[in-house]
Amino acid sequence: MKQICVVGVGYVGLVTAACFSDLGNRVIALDINEERIAGLKRGEMPIYEPGLEELVERNVRAGRIKFTTSYAEGLEGTDFAFIAVGTPSGVDGEADLRAVAASAKSIAENMRDSLIIINKSTVPVGTGDWVAEIVSSNQPEPIPFSVVSCPEFLREGSAISDFMQPHRTVLGSLDPEAAEKVAQLHLPLRAPIVITDLRTAEMIKYASNAFLATKISFINEIANICEELGADVKEVAVGMGYDKRIGPFFLDAGLGYGGSCFPKDVKALAYMAAEKGRHPQLLNAVMEINDDRRPMVVRQVMELVGDLKGKTVGLLGLSFKPNTDDMRDAPAIDIAKMIQAYGAKVHAYDPVAMEVAAPLMDGVEMFSDPYSMAADCDALIVVTEWNEFKNLDLERICEKMRSPVLVDGRNIYDPAVMAKIGYTYRGIGRGYNGSYHNGEVEHEVIASPTGV
Ligand code: UDX
Repeated sequence: MKQICVVGVGYVGLVTAACFSDLGNRVIALDINEERIAGLKRGEMPIYEPGLEELVERNVRAGRIKFTTSYAEGLEGTDFAFIAVGTPSGVDGEADLRAVAASAKSIAENMRDSLIIINKSTVPVGTGDWVAEIVSSNQPEPIPFSVVSCPEFLREGSAISDFMQPHRTVLGSLDPEAAEKVAQLHLPLRAPIVITDLRTAEMIKYASNAFLATKISFINEIANICEELGADVKEVAVGMGYDKRIGPFFLDAGLGYGGSCFPKDVKALAYMAAEKGRHPQLLNAVMEINDDRRPMVVRQVMELVGDLKGKTVGLLGLSFKPNTDDMRDAPAIDIAKMIQAYGAKVHAYDPVAMEVAAPLMDGVEMFSDPYSMAADCDALIVVTEWNEFKNLDLERICEKMRSPVLVDGRNIYDPAVMAKIGYTYRGIGRGYNGSYHNGEVEHEVIASPTGV
């Protein structure tokens, strides 16, 4: 039985700690935030992640996971220390590494035996070397240690299954023996393991997230073009996705990417390139396309209801994606602000994120159910594709609204069905299929495909 200390009990740290304990290791989850640790000791999760509470509870009962705020306690008898603390964006897009530095320093000051230190947080290329320097310069007396990079690829909302059934495990180190020991720890997951050097492992994480963000911005650009030319981006994505070189995933056009990873990681990668004198053209375009998704949906609402002054717009969904209460870089925040700036009131409903969202969304009125939220609205925007919204009583909502305009920012509804109910419906990039007005399809008839 291996002993593991995980530093940081946020999304990544707590999932990592809980999953490793479930695999039969002894785990100590450490955080300097006393409130979070006290809460965890009482069985309260600091974050919403499906299945996490049960997983933690089961392993607490089995005596495999414990919580502490003390590095001395966390590192006693530990073979592996994972650093899984936050790395938010700094002012220019660079990653803020203060928490990583502080944990590396505390590990150095409190380790008593040789240790493998594993970076799980997404950190700029070169951070592994820097952590090694911090540790060796802060050890009261030299104790052998190695640094391994093991980037996480966990999606919020499915983090536990992503951990337990990963597509791959990436490990980077200048010490092959240490990388091999960390590989052993991951063997029960039965996924391919890529062992490389520190910097390459760090880069694999950034390149993967930047590529996925690129796929999203790509399909959003195609959606814009579809809108103009009368094609349906949903079907375009299906048709493209059967090509194995393209694949069907991450081709959902909509309000673009948000959350704690993609915006931060693409920005950080562009920053690293620019800092070295490179011009990251593609990454800049990816960010520019993504930034336009939020004003775009507000423009669409205005095209359908006119001047927003004195009107009310309702938001269906607030979190940056379903199955999480995470509001970090959630499109809903910017969309609400823009609507308010045009002089309209904003109503909102989200199945789980309202408590987290409320302090971030001044003046937005939150409702405990989607029906009362929609009452007297001049338009609704689907911001988050919660499953619950796919099964709403849309007739009832239509009747309650002041004018039944719905802009579907995530393309969850069938345009023809919406038109039949009586909505003025607009999807994203749905071409002829997506723009229904009072039951009539709205599009200009082009004489020939070339427009001549
Ligand atoms: C992501 C990565 O998937 C994960 O591997 C990583 O390490 C952390 O960042 P996460 O941020 O939890 O995970 O969410 P994800 O499901 O990947 O979605 C990211 C964003 O892209 C969301 O805002 C989502 O709405 C958007 N998205 C995703 C699209 O707009 N279209 C798509 O086709 C897919």
